[in-house]
Amino acid sequence: MNFESTYGPWAIVTGASAGLGEHYTRQLAERGLNVLIVARRLDRLSELASELMSNHQVEIECLALDLTATDAIESLLGACQNKDIGLLVNNAGFGIKKAFAENEYSALRDMVRLNCEIPVLLSHALLDKLKNRDTAGIINLASVAGFQPTPFMSVYGATKAFDLLFSEALSSELEGSGIDVLAVCPGSTDTEFHAVAGSESTFPKLDDPRSVVLKSLNCLGKRAVYIHGFRHRLLIFFSRLTPRFLVTRVAHSMLKK
Ligand SMILES: NC(=O)c1ccc[n+]([C@@H]2O[C@H](COP(=O)([O-])OP(=O)(O)OC[C@H]3O[C@@H](n4cnc5c(N)ncnc54)[C@H](OP(=O)(O)O)[C@@H]3O)[C@@H](O)[C@H]2O)c1
Repeated sequence: MNFESTYGPWAIVTGASAGLGEHYTRQLAERGLNVLIVARRLDRLSELASELMSNHQVEIECLALDLTATDAIESLLGACQNKDIGLLVNNAGFGIKKAFAENEYSALRDMVRLNCEIPVLLSHALLDKLKNRDTAGIINLASVAGFQPTPFMSVYGATKAFDLLFSEALSSELEGSGIDVLAVCPGSTDTEFHAVAGSESTFPKLDDPRSVVLKSLNCLGKRAVYIHGFRHRLLIFFSRLTPRFLVTRVAHSMLKK
């Protein structure tokens, strides 16, 4: 499969100013795709765009946008109006590690909006564009946190369960349409996520984001869910055989730290 002709010429990556989104942008540019990159920090996006455009024969267009803003979808659709988009990477997201009652109302609202509402609405808004092509793809960032309840990150884990189930269902609905849908489930990964979430001390061992991105891109079109790392695949397999209250209790004691 030629990645560029299957999913090019243009991709969208949300949350490209750091972490996994930055690495998706890098690896898509290496594969010859032009990328519309979206995040709030324009300086980071511009720096990445200049570097990639000088090292690869691609166009990288920056869109500084707060995806939780009410007109975010319209702004993004405006920016991709004249582009043949073949791949949407719904990557932007954040978590918070706190007891539920201690969360700010606005932070919970933004988390649900960014992690759940935006991937759904963007996929829906772009679906006709993607269907007009022979082949296309949608990648949604879920997480291993989406496979069981996550006390002290209760809403974050639930948003990632939402992303996982939404992606699996969409992948099944779109089978045979030429649109490949993949839910990517990393474990704790070395990005800015844990500094933002306040979860640095809970997850001392972090995976390499480059490897998550490389392996997940290689799975696109071959399966509906990619879980990063043998250890995570094994844990998820055994947690399915364990009573849910026990799985929740183990997660509670791990995440309380
Ligand atoms: N790292 C992990 O351990 C891990 C594990 C499993 C799943 N994931 C998932 O992977 C995805 C990427 O996370 P990451 O680890 O790469 O985190 P990260 O390094 O913190 O990057 C998050 C990205 O999202 C963007 N973003 C945040 N709020 C935004 C908003 N309101 N509007 C637009 N963009 C926004 C950030 O850019 P700006 O701040 O510039 O806007 C940044 O580019 C998330 O969906 C996360 O849930 C991460």
